[in-house]
Amino acid sequence: MKIGTIVHRVVSCSSTNDLAKKKAEKGVAEGTVIIAEEQTKGKGTKGRNWYSAKNMGLYASAILYPENPDISLLPLMAGLAVKEAIAESLSVSVGLRWPNDLLWEEKKLGGILCESDFVGNRLNYVILGIGLNLYHDPEDFPEEIRPLAASLKMVTDLEINEERLLRSLWKSLSRWYRLFSQGQSIKIAHSYERNSLLRPGQKLKLENEKGEFTGVYRGIDQRGGLILEEKGIRKSYFSAQIKAIIHA
Ligand code: BTN
Repeated sequence: MKIGTIVHRVVSCSSTNDLAKKKAEKGVAEGTVIIAEEQTKGKGTKGRNWYSAKNMGLYASAILYPENPDISLLPLMAGLAVKEAIAESLSVSVGLRWPNDLLWEEKKLGGILCESDFVGNRLNYVILGIGLNLYHDPEDFPEEIRPLAASLKMVTDLEINEERLLRSLWKSLSRWYRLFSQGQSIKIAHSYERNSLLRPGQKLKLENEKGEFTGVYRGIDQRGGLILEEKGIRKSYFSAQIKAIIHA
């Protein structure tokens, strides 16, 4: 199965993820992608907005029907694919911050929003949403996110060839998704661990809806969870945010 063989381009929509959901409900082919020039209600993780000005970024959603309902590795897998595509097409090495951020020097360059639909225990579909800032100058970002945001234009002097970037992205995403479908989760988790900005042994503060947790980072488990050791006990976190890396 190849992602990106069928690509629907729209000028404007509220969110490519929402448009992709409608297509998935109709049962379109797996790997179909929706790309929009702009989103009027682009969605980020944790109910945030994703700033999606016209022709400034990549706003894309891929429709997947995984057999395995354990899909927590998919955002990590997509992050790896985007990182690879940027390296291949622009020779820029971007950072991965667990679980779904693409960073340039601590500024946000892109992110992944993975949404799924279950009927009981049965997984109906997954929408893999990818947002990547391409052409912004700093002043193009709204003031409130300006200090925290970057675009590819801000980090490379090379001209951004979107066609080439997308070709690399579909190739890379298809390869990683094949591994996921073959059950090679450990390979994906190890690759994420090697490519992420965190190093095992670092002290971290995580936050989730239950509170803040401080411990030592011990890697990524095969379901994509972040392993944190607190008072000698290791626990995997799935839905959490890294609040700080604590340097001794
Ligand atoms: C994040 O918060 O880091 C995730 C951002 C994901 C944004 C992309 S843009 C394409 C797709 N459609 C959306 O509404 N969101 C995702």
